[in-house]
Amino acid sequence: MIKASDFGPNFTWGVATAAPQIEGAASQYGKGPSIWDTFASRSGKIKNNHQPDRACDFYHRYREDLALVKLLGFKVFRFSIAWSRILPNGIGATNQQGISFYHQVIDECLALQITPYITLYHWDLPQALENDGGWTSFSINAAFNAFVKLCALEYGDKVKNWLILNEPFGFTSLGYMLGVHAPGKTGLSNFFPAVLHTALAQADGGHILRSEVKNANIGTTYSCSEILPYTQSDNDLLAAKRVDCLMNRLFVEPAQGLGFPTADWEMLEKFQMEYGTWRFNNRMKFDFDFIGLQSYFPLTVKYNPFIPVIQAWEVKAKSRKKPHTAMGWEVNADSFYNIIKQFSSYPQVKNIVITENGAAYRDHLATGNVVDAERIKYFELYLAALLKVKNEGINVTGYMVWTLMDNFEWAEGYNARFGLIHTDFATLKRTIKYSGYWWQEFLRA
Ligand code: NOJ
Repeated sequence: MIKASDFGPNFTWGVATAAPQIEGAASQYGKGPSIWDTFASRSGKIKNNHQPDRACDFYHRYREDLALVKLLGFKVFRFSIAWSRILPNGIGATNQQGISFYHQVIDECLALQITPYITLYHWDLPQALENDGGWTSFSINAAFNAFVKLCALEYGDKVKNWLILNEPFGFTSLGYMLGVHAPGKTGLSNFFPAVLHTALAQADGGHILRSEVKNANIGTTYSCSEILPYTQSDNDLLAAKRVDCLMNRLFVEPAQGLGFPTADWEMLEKFQMEYGTWRFNNRMKFDFDFIGLQSYFPLTVKYNPFIPVIQAWEVKAKSRKKPHTAMGWEVNADSFYNIIKQFSSYPQVKNIVITENGAAYRDHLATGNVVDAERIKYFELYLAALLKVKNEGINVTGYMVWTLMDNFEWAEGYNARFGLIHTDFATLKRTIKYSGYWWQEFLRA
């Protein structure tokens, strides 16, 4: 049986969350609306029309929830700051109540000897900034930088571990190209400028923290998936390469001063020419202390000329009769191992932390217990792969479970349950799942 001590005494074990998914109090205590509040109320794109306005009510229950983090034995709590809670319009006037709230969360962590990791941006852009174009607009960078500086000055004495962005490819593609996430924009004319401004924000944020926070440990996170061609045909191999450029390389390479991966896909070459992105190669560079990887599944892709731009198509795990979670995501720990190796092969990547990993299943609360054997199996497989990669000398120094408790899973609403703790969304009662107890044992040993 694998146990935490196999990873050595300095390995960091944590649990990750995000403000819009857990906090609730979405229009209370001076918080301004975020793009997720607006999108959920207007778009009709959230399953069952679920709303994030109350979520897990972490805003009022953070003490109880942090006590659960402690009880399960995690040493790190990762959470994000809702930008519009501390700056209701995204820029300008601050909201003292919002600023104090995060001080309270941090103080509670410290009192419990839990190390806080702050994610600065986990997808909930202030609606006021979206009204000016959001990530597509060049003005977003000044607003973001002011937000980062405010957070650094407020919390930098107490918090040393920072993540600039959560999954930049996730929010730019889902929110500004496919329109299935907030703010619901579509097309390359939104996606490309959003990508450029996001890559700038990633590095600018790093520089600001470096100058404002003494002894900061600065990272940012990337979603990543091993991309597997469906066959070894040239068409499928090229399709896999294009998807890899987009899903894995788009943001990590500019941070290393490599610019966007234009050489491997002419579409990105077009992007570079149209937006003059090469002019920013230097500014997009930042020497991160660590990179956060968030990997759940591999993708098998096949050439498909009918899909605009990318000309690739996912061959789903279900149709290939592969094990998968309730999200339809393939369970494949070998791919987890491979993608960590892929990222570790960049010479500038010094240190990797798995900042999210976990699985959604159709949990049932039977006689007061949630017996989620599939989730436990998932963790066993993925942790074994992680240990293997670590034992090969790859500098992986931490792992965070996604997520503490079932919460607002974006366009899936409350239907997708990733938590180690079951949330009853009618009563808000928390019940530790068997996987939560499994983690408690794992961390003890
Ligand atoms: C990615 C995101 O960072 C997080 O917010 C989301 O809930 C999980 N992965 C699962 O989809």
